[in-house]
Amino acid sequence: SQQERVVIIGSGNWGSAASRLIGKNVTKSSRFEDRVNMWVYEEVLNGQKLTEIINTQHENVKYLPGYKLPKNIVAVPDIVEAVKGATVLVFVVPHQFIRNLCKQMKSAISSHCRGISLIKGIDFNESGPLLITDIIKSELNIPMCALSGANIANEIAAEKFCETTIGYENLEDGKLMKELFHDDMFRVGFVKDVAGVQVCGALKNVIALGAGFCDALEMGNNTKSALMRIGLIEMQRFAKKYYSNVKVETFMESCGVADLITTCYGGRNRKCAEAFIRTKKSWNVLEEELLNGQKLQGTTTAKDVYLTLKKDNALEEFPHMVTIYRIAFEGLPVERIVLDI
Ligand code: NAD
Ligand code: 13P
Repeated sequence: SQQERVVIIGSGNWGSAASRLIGKNVTKSSRFEDRVNMWVYEEVLNGQKLTEIINTQHENVKYLPGYKLPKNIVAVPDIVEAVKGATVLVFVVPHQFIRNLCKQMKSAISSHCRGISLIKGIDFNESGPLLITDIIKSELNIPMCALSGANIANEIAAEKFCETTIGYENLEDGKLMKELFHDDMFRVGFVKDVAGVQVCGALKNVIALGAGFCDALEMGNNTKSALMRIGLIEMQRFAKKYYSNVKVETFMESCGVADLITTCYGGRNRKCAEAFIRTKKSWNVLEEELLNGQKLQGTTTAKDVYLTLKKDNALEEFPHMVTIYRIAFEGLPVERIVLDI
């Protein structure tokens, strides 16, 4: 039977680290073609195209410096060319770019294609929250899994042990995706809960902003743990309100409590939120100064969550996330992070 053709959409910090796992795993099984295209948002570094650098030096020197990518990972700047004939799509771009990309790739993918989203974010429209997998499904009409966990990309590239969670609808698809990612140092777990995995991944970015505010106040460990605990409860409450099928167990997986912990200690959202209080600079300036092209996801999500809750008259049910939004965008004094609980 025909081999699976895997294509990675995105090549930032996590996309590049994930390509190290995928590039290695495809060569272990005859089920997959060896070559894996990776769509790269083209940019020029010191006069040289990033795609050329990746294809000659086998390193994404901007987004994952210091780690080689497998030679079977091929950087392609044209999205239509990258996904031609793809049967397995791995989506790993900042969430704001997903819809536009899907529109461009629609005609080029194989008719029996399926996908997995590594994206931590959620979109919103007039009727409420929209899962990234549902956006992809509505644009491309393909079955989707989601992968999320306590997965700081640089630590994975350094092959430090961690767990992750794949949310699936169809177990066969989940198992196929596991073959792409699983490794002794990257242990894949399963839940039959695509929505729960993604709600956790999106909302923990908001709670991490609160953790950064708390760090700027030098409140200490007990305070931060309290904010994380309350944040976890609000994450669950949000999931229950908008996705009634979400499972409680999902919050106990790597994508739930573990990712919340890792992001509140070691993530970019936490780091920028601490700097936001200490330097009084704007979010855009901080993203520019501190992240070198990488993207902050929690601020947009905090705003979208707030607007949705407001429209649904539900602000009072989510005091912690509302306070985080108000500190981030309405000039509320940062001390309110504890006083408003
Ligand atoms: P990143 O923040 O490191 O990099 C940003 C990427 O966006 C770059 O590849 C850049 O080229 C690209 N980009 C810039 N402008 C663009 C445009 N107009 N259209 C399309 N792409 C554009 O990216 P990342 O860390 O790989 O994040 C991707 C997703 O993975 C996010 O949802 C993030 O939350 C999630 N994630 C990240 C980590 C991590 O540790 N970095 C871990 C787990 C999940
Ligand atoms: P940040 O985007 O805050 O760096 O979080 C990374 C992450 O998702 C770790 O699991």
